[in-house]
Amino acid sequence: MTLKELKSTFITQLSEVYPSQEVESIFTVLSEYFLNYTRLETVLKADESLSKEIIKHFENAISRLKRQEPVQYICGKTEFYSLPFKVDKHTLIPRPETEGLVQWIIDDENKKQTKSKTLLDIGTGSGCIAISLAKNLKDIDVSALDFSPEALKTAHKNSVLNSVKVTFFELDLMDEQTLPQRYDIMVSNPPYVRELEKSDMRSNVLEYEPKSALFVTDKDPFLFYRRIARLANLYLTDNGRVYFEINEYLSDELKALLLTERFTDIEVRKDIFGKDRMIKCSVHE
Ligand SMILES: C[S@@+](CC[C@H](N)C(=O)[O-])C[C@H]1O[C@@H](n2cnc3c(N)ncnc32)[C@H](O)[C@@H]1O
Repeated sequence: MTLKELKSTFITQLSEVYPSQEVESIFTVLSEYFLNYTRLETVLKADESLSKEIIKHFENAISRLKRQEPVQYICGKTEFYSLPFKVDKHTLIPRPETEGLVQWIIDDENKKQTKSKTLLDIGTGSGCIAISLAKNLKDIDVSALDFSPEALKTAHKNSVLNSVKVTFFELDLMDEQTLPQRYDIMVSNPPYVRELEKSDMRSNVLEYEPKSALFVTDKDPFLFYRRIARLANLYLTDNGRVYFEINEYLSDELKALLLTERFTDIEVRKDIFGKDRMIKCSVHE
């Protein structure tokens, strides 16, 4: 079978499951992963015959994709802020919206005369926020926590992959109230999707990504924000800042909650899709 024939089988088999543009881009990702070919090479080498082993890899991927498994889990990797990250079933696949949060922190730091010295990423998952910040900010000690030991293992591998030093530690926000030190910046993309929003989500997210990374109850959507706000009140340095990724539908309510928790200078920003997606705030005594 040639690469061209394989591509045509791939598209036919998956066109009922994914929009055609997405099938094309998944094919490109898998060609890079299994064959080490760029998009251009997949065109130039269209008539090349493929080995049985490669065809088997693609067939296996097709059946996993039919069951809506994200291609990032099939390859075990993705890209975030132009850096490579390993991902697995214990880690959320980093989203492009979250890059906006990282960019906000980098832009703020670049404008500041006195640079922040310590930063904590809360609910680090793959480590994407902590690692991209450690890579792009100079002279800052970056720490990151999660309650999932498996996610922390992957996050640590990602710090090695990206040649940065991040101090990872395990902590469950639901039962711990102490941190090892104070921080100039706290950042978090905590679970914030309400159960009622599940019906808007695709099954590749619902069935494969870790539920504990995504969902909160309809009754208490700000559970994590309250816990983190209390930690910030105790462990943020004077004039420190907190950056949160947020639920697009709940920015006003979250602002109100942060005001009651004594935060000031609250600013909401939209993501690349024009949705309220991030909040920055400070604690002043
Ligand atoms: C939305 S994911 C964010 C992952 C990553 N920071 C990102 O932006 O892609 C939320 C993270 O919070 C972690 N988490 C959930 N419940 C937690 C808890 N009780 N204590 C600490 N971390 C928790 C999950 O394991 C997950 O990695």
